[in-house]
Amino acid sequence: MKHRAIIEQLTLEEKAALMAGKSVWETKDFPEKGIPSVFLSDGPHGIRKQEGSGDHLGLNASVPATCFPTAATLANSWDPALVEEVGAALGAEASSLGVHVVLGPGLNIKRNPLCGRNFEYYSEDPYQAGKMAAAMIRGLQSQGVAATPKHLAVNSQELRRMASDSIVDERTLREIYLTGFEIAVREGNPKAIMSAYNKINGIYANEDKRLLRDILRDEWGFTGFVVSDWGGSNDHVLGVENGSHLEMPGTTTVGQKELIDAVQSGRLSESVLDERVDELLQVVLDLAAQEKRSIDVNKQHQLARRAAAESIVLLKNEDQVLPLQAEKTVAVIGEFAKNPRYQGAGSSLINARQVDNTLEAMKDYPLTYVGYAQGYQRIDQPDEALVTEALALAQQADTVLYYMGLDEISESEGLDRTHLQLPKNQLHLLEKLAAIHEKIVVVLSAGSVVDMSWDKHVKAVVHGYLSGEAGARAMLDALTGLVNPSGKLSETYPIALADVPSSKEFPAEGDYALYREGLYVGYRYFDTTQTAVQYPFGYGLSYTTFAYGDLRIHETGLSMTVTNTGERAGAEVVQLYVGKEDARVFRPSKELKGFAKVYLEAGQSTEVNLSFDDKTFRYFNTVTNAFEIEGGTYQLYLGASVSDIRLVAEITQEATTEHLPELTGLDSYQAGQVLQVTDEEFTRLLGRPIPVESWQVGQELRLNDPLSKMQYAKSGLARLVYKLLHHLLKKAEQKGKPDLNLLFLYNMPFRALAKMTGGMLDQQMVAAILVIVNGHFMKGVGQLWKAFRAKQGYQKQLS
Ligand code: BGC
Repeated sequence: MKHRAIIEQLTLEEKAALMAGKSVWETKDFPEKGIPSVFLSDGPHGIRKQEGSGDHLGLNASVPATCFPTAATLANSWDPALVEEVGAALGAEASSLGVHVVLGPGLNIKRNPLCGRNFEYYSEDPYQAGKMAAAMIRGLQSQGVAATPKHLAVNSQELRRMASDSIVDERTLREIYLTGFEIAVREGNPKAIMSAYNKINGIYANEDKRLLRDILRDEWGFTGFVVSDWGGSNDHVLGVENGSHLEMPGTTTVGQKELIDAVQSGRLSESVLDERVDELLQVVLDLAAQEKRSIDVNKQHQLARRAAAESIVLLKNEDQVLPLQAEKTVAVIGEFAKNPRYQGAGSSLINARQVDNTLEAMKDYPLTYVGYAQGYQRIDQPDEALVTEALALAQQADTVLYYMGLDEISESEGLDRTHLQLPKNQLHLLEKLAAIHEKIVVVLSAGSVVDMSWDKHVKAVVHGYLSGEAGARAMLDALTGLVNPSGKLSETYPIALADVPSSKEFPAEGDYALYREGLYVGYRYFDTTQTAVQYPFGYGLSYTTFAYGDLRIHETGLSMTVTNTGERAGAEVVQLYVGKEDARVFRPSKELKGFAKVYLEAGQSTEVNLSFDDKTFRYFNTVTNAFEIEGGTYQLYLGASVSDIRLVAEITQEATTEHLPELTGLDSYQAGQVLQVTDEEFTRLLGRPIPVESWQVGQELRLNDPLSKMQYAKSGLARLVYKLLHHLLKKAEQKGKPDLNLLFLYNMPFRALAKMTGGMLDQQMVAAILVIVNGHFMKGVGQLWKAFRAKQGYQKQLS
């Protein structure tokens, strides 16, 4: 133990208090014993520091801060150096605000385009997500603050996010859902990590010893502390025993008492508690000793603009309508031009300092601007007067810049989308515009995949994703050619939602989310099965063109030449995919294993070197329980997207084991045809029976059932509470703004009442409340009173 001297001076009560947090955002301190408190804040694309009373989902305002592009946006830059710079700027801003721990980056895998939090995550590919996250972590931590990659792991849906069990086979877990975290930890060395709300194969992530100790610490070398997601701690004692440290938001004496009792009864060994205290102190003492950084607000804004510009994806540019020419007239249509949508909703919502808007910025660009029309209501409802006005304006201009995208209610923490369509009123206007105008450029704002079947009506589509506070200018930089777009998609745009393998069961509504599709997430499925897509993974155009050549393979990597064959300077993202055509152990046809972004003047060439690493050829072998390499020939594909392969070469690898996993009866997985995996096949892949939903309407509710299940409660009072909750949620939806705290409650299990109330309720009281909910009013009230009195007793002693 590194901090034995301090720990020996602490009482059991003090050690237990250190693990339970002091408030929504602070850890417990004992200044007289040399232990300071540290402040944690969201994250991930800006600092959301709440002063005054914290409510964790942002009802109470936070201090103004720079809003950088969200993770989904930054990922499109494919530029770890840029992401590291953004990380450093965020780190400096955190430090300047007195924040020690930034709750981010988020790097869950985009398993399905409907996940409400995809805008906060990087990619559908673990390698790309891991590289981006590692860069962000290095940047953040260069400024003396801790990064907290989240949410470890397999947390890919919002519905029932705290009460869902992700059922996933071991190989998929390791290759798809953990590899990003592995890269983030090994290459970023984060000082903290956040465990996910959900269970993984029956065990809460926050209580999973194999995950938090064997894999995270022993295998990946993590040396920081594990913090539960807010309210995500289920059994604090089990958490601490199995490798979690901090229970947040602070449960104060309630969490403290649980640990004290566990040590006193012998359920938890005091030496394990000491070990956790030691690991936590290692980070806390280091963070508190760092000097405070300062920031230049303008420089932060400029970086936000550059980061947004580098991340813009040019999806279509027929007849080279872009970049816009100064002498041609443009009309700007769409409410988003006036009120940009630049970030998503939820715990990541930043109180942005200075938000650029297109209309005000236009005058600073060489454009002949004929005017602006709102075109549609922000909240999806018809308004023909706005349409008429927009059409009249469109007719006066050579080019129409149509700003459209997803509205606020569509993308939010706590809420998965139900479809991929843009709001109907925006599409209605697009059709009308297309009928009268030939040159429409769509400027899109959305943090995740949307249906783009409408793109046939327009000449150009430029996707800014959610581009942060300076996104409007970044977009004008790209539209006018000041910046040559160089972003590439980090997720596949399918033609239809039904083409996505997980679409039939997403989001899972019951206790279990079955990850039947296994490894075939995103392009791994589409490419293997040659399913047509709207826009492939890794795709993005430029105002110039690039040629690939001169591929040379050597033992440790490859080199090749990229030439800018057009007339403008620009940047290309070269992608390396690896496949094995004759694989015995089934695998996707291509997997991303390397990439490089290169900037080239017109006519310039450069050599690109990509090194192989331990992940280039590996697969996870469930027999040896280790990553192995299958022997034989591999294909190396170099391309401008997964579907635009320009160079191919082969290389041979030695097998690392003779023991192959059992592969019989897995035909769908062999072929990648995973749209309809039978129970039998999934059972084989899992190596155990698929768990069956055990709860049915009419049965009593359980501690880990979400509050939304109160609609089936035996108690009329509980049903009434449900109705009220539901009514308020619907009302918020109609207003076009998600009410995050209500959504949180809706998906929250009963047990979390004891975790989210800052010590007001403990587990005995929650158990009593559940007795009431289950229709035993008198009995429950009696138990509640008894538990309340008991809590008063121990709180008096401990405080
Ligand atoms: C979110 C986390 C966030 C935390 C604190 C949770 O609901 O899942 O991502 O960091 O709240 O706001």
